[in-house]
Amino acid sequence: EKGGYDYFMLKEIAEQPKAVADTLLGRIDASGSLALDEVRISAGELREVDKVVIVACGTAFHAGMIAKYAIEHWTRIPCEVELASEFRYRDPILDARSLVIAISQSGETMDTLMALRHAREQGSKVLAICNTNGSTIPRESDAVLYTHAGPEVAVASTKAFLTQLVACYLVALYLGQVRGTKWGDEISAVIRDLSHISGEVDRVLETMEPVRALARSLAGKRTVLFLGRHVGYPVALEGALKLKELAYMHAEGFAAGELKHGPIALIEDDMPVVVVVPSPRGRSVLHDKIVSNIQEIRARGARTIVIAEEGDEAVVPYADHLIRIPATPTLLQPLVATVPLQVFACELATARGNDVDQPRNLAKSVTVE
Ligand code: F6R
Repeated sequence: EKGGYDYFMLKEIAEQPKAVADTLLGRIDASGSLALDEVRISAGELREVDKVVIVACGTAFHAGMIAKYAIEHWTRIPCEVELASEFRYRDPILDARSLVIAISQSGETMDTLMALRHAREQGSKVLAICNTNGSTIPRESDAVLYTHAGPEVAVASTKAFLTQLVACYLVALYLGQVRGTKWGDEISAVIRDLSHISGEVDRVLETMEPVRALARSLAGKRTVLFLGRHVGYPVALEGALKLKELAYMHAEGFAAGELKHGPIALIEDDMPVVVVVPSPRGRSVLHDKIVSNIQEIRARGARTIVIAEEGDEAVVPYADHLIRIPATPTLLQPLVATVPLQVFACELATARGNDVDQPRNLAKSVTVE
């Protein structure tokens, strides 16, 4: 049942190109527009939405953080994203014009379920992004966009995360399409890029051997830090979460711009720091900033592990280890940048002798509060 792999997690990492393609299947029509009829919230209602609020836990929350960048950029609708466990215990401001998006692989996470119940009580529409047919969260939502990752057995989420990202992009682009924004041309281009992205994920998977070797060489380390900016920031958080839960190591993700506000004090000689570098094309300010961040940490002794687009030469002098990913539009980069971090955590944990399918203290779905 593990399909020849030692662990479900390895199998599920390898299944990502298919999971991504399956989640897109039938949702982009021949003219290159989105056909999301299954989102049973009318175009009229979607045009009325004045705020999007995303609730989720763990890895699904990281997908939500990335969705915020996409939704605000492509639709200009204000978007908040909050941990479901925080959201449900405060008094959030919602009404009938708020669209609440609940993201959950299992569809059974108690905090996410309670958050969506709270939202519906306020009269908001709830759209679930979920991987499990007929589970509680989609049943209690107004609409659902299923991710088609197939069953995810390993406790650590991998393929479900990539498909959650795809679903979030689809929702963001669909909102943009329904409402008509000035980004019409960009939206069409991104829909085209999305339809090719599963091949790019496949290409990343083919180049992972050096990442595995690097992970094994770091198995004795105590701490690994992860830095990113923009959508690379939630990717950094996800890389750190994978390493914590699988390798039981101290791993932390930071927004690179926050370094000088505290975290840079953590840097010690030869401490591995993984940096997710945004594309040098497009928003080049972001790229330049992160190149200076890499220089800053390296000057303080960090061992830099740099994840950068093919053709990005500016990072080469400052990278102790360089992991290449294919060029993608900035907002889509998490689909390719996360994969090396999953492989890294899985291999490092295995080298430490851990069972990556059943990490200690964790359950696949958290149905208690
Ligand atoms: C991390 C992980 C968890 C889940 C979280 C939410 O690898 O798997 O953080 O993402 O418990 O679970 P779902 O998506 O089922 O609501």
